[in-house]
Amino acid sequence: MNELDSLVESAVQLFAQSASPAELENAKAQFLGKSGRVTELMKGMAQLSVEEKKSCGAAINMAKQAIEAALTARRQALADAELQVQLKAEALDVSLPGRQRGQGGLHPVSLTLERIEGIFGSMGFDVAEGPEIETDWFNFTALNTPEDHPARSMHDTFYVEGGTAAAPNLLRTHTSPMQIRHAVQHVKKHRAALDAGQSMPEIRVIAPGRTYRVDSDATHSPMFHQCEGLWIGENVSFKDLKVVFTDFCRTFFESDDLVLRFRPSFFPFTEPSAEIDIQFQTGPLAGRWLEVAGSGQVHPNVVRNMGLDPEKYIGFAFGMGPDRLTMLRYGVNDLRLFFDGDIRFLSQFQ
Ligand code: DAH
Repeated sequence: MNELDSLVESAVQLFAQSASPAELENAKAQFLGKSGRVTELMKGMAQLSVEEKKSCGAAINMAKQAIEAALTARRQALADAELQVQLKAEALDVSLPGRQRGQGGLHPVSLTLERIEGIFGSMGFDVAEGPEIETDWFNFTALNTPEDHPARSMHDTFYVEGGTAAAPNLLRTHTSPMQIRHAVQHVKKHRAALDAGQSMPEIRVIAPGRTYRVDSDATHSPMFHQCEGLWIGENVSFKDLKVVFTDFCRTFFESDDLVLRFRPSFFPFTEPSAEIDIQFQTGPLAGRWLEVAGSGQVHPNVVRNMGLDPEKYIGFAFGMGPDRLTMLRYGVNDLRLFFDGDIRFLSQFQ
């Protein structure tokens, strides 16, 4: 191999080893630069004869062209590689599944509350909401609950700041205060008619919401839900309570053969009072009595605290636990699951 061939060879090799354009330009300088090897060879021709210049010059030129061709090819190869890297970095991988927006849904207890509102709404009941921080007047006293009643004990009531010793504030322990609040508003609206000896439209309302007690285990949570019901008129009887509540339960559980039992009980704000038990005839809970609500005929003292004459107005009330209804409907056995916020549990209800 003559000198020129090996020069071309080593240029090609060096170009091939150049991994970046900058490196390549350095390599180029070694051959084609001002004092590059090709340039030196050309300078060296000065001493040659005219004949020699011709043949030697032609040979050097060919070598130079070969080196330039290799340089151009390598430049192109490097530029192509760089472009490939850039394209790869910027590429959209259309085979990746899109990032989906998480789909929200209603909490199972909210689903139950909506269901309760829908069913009672179809029976002509309004829906009322009230404060979770209550006064002891609405939570206890107005509901005919004497001051030494166990329900007032520190053990199950969360007292909160803001009241007075004589009238402390508390987190409502039930939704029953809404009986008084709603009835008082209703009576106020119809005061003129009542004062004129006319009758007022019936009070027919449910009041769902959060309630609080110092209690926590698999079936009790310090925060839980209740839904109050109240129907007051001139001629509303215990029979109406039975009809309304039976209808509600059968619709709620979509079970026409559901059996109800009104078991005598005590609540300060009703007389007589009853716990309401239900019994499924089919399914995993068939045959068992399950308590779902407290109820009763509204006590005359409570009717009086509503601003009504208990000789003329009478009715019934009930208070049920939507959390428990949700557990029964879906077969959930630990109440705490509802309030842990575990998406794996909650997403099953969507
Ligand atoms: N407030 C009662 C409780 O929390 C439930 C209740 C019982 C509500 C009887 C009522 C009723 O309206 O008439 O245990």
